[in-house]
Amino acid sequence: MSHNLQGKTAIVTGAAQGIGLEIARQLSEAGAGVVIADIDESAAKEAAAQLTNATAMACDVRDEEQVKGLVDATVATYGGLNVMIPNAGIAAVSPIVEMDLAAWRAVTSVNLDGVFLSIRYAAPAIIASGGGSIVTLGSITALAGTPLISSYAASKAAVVNLTKTAATELRDHGVRVNAVLPGFAATSLVTSQVDAFESALGLPSGGFAAVIEQKQGRFGTVEEIAKSVLFLAGDESTFCSGSGLVLDGGLDAGLF
Ligand SMILES: NC(=O)c1ccc[n+]([C@@H]2O[C@H](COP(=O)([O-])OP(=O)(O)OC[C@H]3O[C@@H](n4cnc5c(N)ncnc54)[C@H](O)[C@@H]3O)[C@@H](O)[C@H]2O)c1
Repeated sequence: MSHNLQGKTAIVTGAAQGIGLEIARQLSEAGAGVVIADIDESAAKEAAAQLTNATAMACDVRDEEQVKGLVDATVATYGGLNVMIPNAGIAAVSPIVEMDLAAWRAVTSVNLDGVFLSIRYAAPAIIASGGGSIVTLGSITALAGTPLISSYAASKAAVVNLTKTAATELRDHGVRVNAVLPGFAATSLVTSQVDAFESALGLPSGGFAAVIEQKQGRFGTVEEIAKSVLFLAGDESTFCSGSGLVLDGGLDAGLF
């Protein structure tokens, strides 16, 4: 692993599985102390037990006191904070006209409020630790209308803008803030929605995978996404702030 994060401390939210767990694994392999923060405490503990110098902490990113407590507990445990990865996110499939406000807020409270709270409380701790990096999880859905996942796509577009705004506010305090915008990877976030997608779009079974193959060649892997997060988290990207790195096999590059 070329990214040397020896002696650094990182928090990854939603890190009990999927992309977050792989980010935590690569941070750990690069020498960082890693806090695996997740609403699912037992899964977070299992994940932390697999890694070197990792600690599980229960945290619901929708809850301000819990996010504040996560940052405080991290600083108390590791002596500071250098990297925050607000990765926790959820998705739901529904046409706009069939979605009630509670269902809309169920997604945006995790995907947008959770990222706001993570930046809000991590940034002062990173500044107090001498500076560092925040990397958010946008999505390719931030860049185009994405039928049936309006709450997800809109929250991701907002995260990309929040990332840029945070970058401007935090630059002179030694904190870089960047986003990755992945296309589709076959984590449970995606696979759990495939049936709903296929039935809402009138696709046959396997139709969703065929669309992905046509649009982005194949599913992305968690390893590919995590590698780019590590690049933005570490010292190989020191002049990079406010950027959004698209990782989608070319999906966004063309009409066909
Ligand atoms: N999988 C993809 O194709 C894809 C593409 C683009 C962006 N992303 C983004 O990457 C991030 C990780 O997604 P994933 O695919 O690994 O999902 P996942 O469903 O595999 O994992 C999400 C994790 O977040 C946790 N979580 C959910 N709600 C939480 C809350 N309120 N507080 C704390 N933790 C909570 C879950 O327990 C789970 O461990 C998300 O922000 C997602 O939007 C994923």
